[in-house]
Amino acid sequence: MENKRFVDKVMIITGAASGIGYTVAKLAAKEGASIVFSDLQAEKGREAEQALRKINPNVEFLPLDMTLESSAQTLVNVAVKKYNHVDILINNAGITGKADSVHNMAGDMFKKVIDCNIVSMFYCSHYAVLQMLRQNSESSIVNLASIASLVGSLNNVAYVTSKHAVIGLTKCMALDYAQQKIRVNAVSPGIISTPMQQDSMKNLLGDNLDKVLLTKLKNNIPLKLLSPQNRVADTEEVAKAILFLASSDASHITGVNLPVDGGYTIY
Ligand code: NAI
Repeated sequence: MENKRFVDKVMIITGAASGIGYTVAKLAAKEGASIVFSDLQAEKGREAEQALRKINPNVEFLPLDMTLESSAQTLVNVAVKKYNHVDILINNAGITGKADSVHNMAGDMFKKVIDCNIVSMFYCSHYAVLQMLRQNSESSIVNLASIASLVGSLNNVAYVTSKHAVIGLTKCMALDYAQQKIRVNAVSPGIISTPMQQDSMKNLLGDNLDKVLLTKLKNNIPLKLLSPQNRVADTEEVAKAILFLASSDASHITGVNLPVDGGYTIY
């Protein structure tokens, strides 16, 4: 029998025009969720909305820049106006920015990554939690962390710093709202085949980028040393973990960070 865990649930997802966020929306729509999602890319977002509405008509896209506090407020307000409640928030929007070390990185670039990956997460959580507290019903938040939340990586100071902060935010929120029926967890993907990952590889390897590597990433061909499983993962493998934590299947789980990394962070 097909799972229908999200019937009558209202889910907000940030940055869901592509990649992991889009796959979360697709799987959640199949399971009956009403979805309100944002993205910076207006055209791509509208295309995603059209595609998702074929699965489930209750999908709404808002072209918003989640680094602005007003965007978080709008996103939550629209969901409440349309459906009267917000049950699940998936804080997904993120960027890698320019990969570099402290002495080479301009302050503006550092701030840009921090704003997108952690400040926006705070804003969205702030408005969603205010609504969830008013509802006083079972709610759940899942934050997109990363293997970069658990280990350092060379020349990648902004992204790694922002993703370590996601774990702090997740733990504090989980503690603060544990008795108010709001669960807060994080998922830490490894190397997942998405547009962001391809940008990130370009970023890290710059002009030395081997075109063969990019082709392999696009085609999800196993690559050595990416994880003990020796492969790039699919967005569905992450989305399923996110939706597990978002659902009532995880009713006694809060404050965890679940790596979905093929064993990358075992060492
Ligand atoms: P992606 O680039 O495919 O999707 C991210 C989406 O967020 C894009 O559609 C983008 O337009 C949107 N976005 C970016 N900044 C935004 C803003 N200010 N306002 C609204 N929307 C914005 O990336 P992917 O790979 O799906 O990443 C999703 C999350 O997963 C990110 O938080 C990322 O850090 C995390 N992650 C991804 C990994 C990977 O290997 N792909 C590994 C570990 C973590």
